[in-house]
Amino acid sequence: MSAPGKQVPKHVAIIMDGNGRWAKQRGWPRLKGHEAGAESVRCVVRLCRDLGIRYLTLYAFSKENWVRPEAEVSGLMRLLRWYLGDQEHEFHKHKLRLRTIGCREDLPAPVRREIERIEQATADYDAGQLILALSYGARTELAAAARAIAARAARGELDPESVTEATVAAHLYAPDVPDPDLIIRTSGEMRLSNFLLWQAAYSELYVTPVLWPDFREPDFMAALTAFGARSRRYGGLGGDDKDATC
Ligand code: IPE
Ligand code: IPE
Ligand code: MG
Repeated sequence: MSAPGKQVPKHVAIIMDGNGRWAKQRGWPRLKGHEAGAESVRCVVRLCRDLGIRYLTLYAFSKENWVRPEAEVSGLMRLLRWYLGDQEHEFHKHKLRLRTIGCREDLPAPVRREIERIEQATADYDAGQLILALSYGARTELAAAARAIAARAARGELDPESVTEATVAAHLYAPDVPDPDLIIRTSGEMRLSNFLLWQAAYSELYVTPVLWPDFREPDFMAALTAFGARSRRYGGLGGDDKDATC
């Protein structure tokens, strides 16, 4: 399979939204929507593998999502464990590295242990990376980076005057991962909801009204096609305007 368009993203990040609305439309409990969403996860992981997209970050649970009813939160944690158990053989088979970003200490101990075990077991794989954002909040990530930099300065290891953008980037949760080229949000909401605020500085954004449990191959290919047609200028001039008269 080959990706449509002239440019293929190296890193795609997805805000997987709309599970609750999908379930509500059917008169089903919200957890049914989350369960159906797990199938969309399997689908996009496979597509990224087939298309050679090396990094896929999925916003699975935000720092703010803990305020949801206990039954939904515990159902999501159960589903996460089930997904990891169900898919671990796929990670090994395809040499896919699993990583997480976020406040791991917030997660229930059995989930944390399972994640740590699979992260270690897949740490040396290099065919691609699946990065799950769990109890993730970008402001928390940036505050943690600021704390770590301040602590190093206080210990005399670092001159505050030498702190640059690269210093901040080096103290984020996954500093070796390139910024996302493309951020997809399903369910039509036009916001980032505290996702990758630093890393998204020059990401291309793609919002689709499709609810996450319905998001499958045609929807992902449509996002890639849209991305392929974008002109990424990073503040400069686009291809046709490069030689424009000023
Ligand atoms: C996204 O779907 C999944 C999580 C945030 C865990 P939602 O549960 O937010 O679905 P809606 O937005 O209520 O439809
Ligand atoms: C964002 O979705 C978080 C995840 C997809 C995990 P939310 O449903 O929590 O976002 P808001 O509350 O609509 O901004
Ligand atoms: Mg939502």
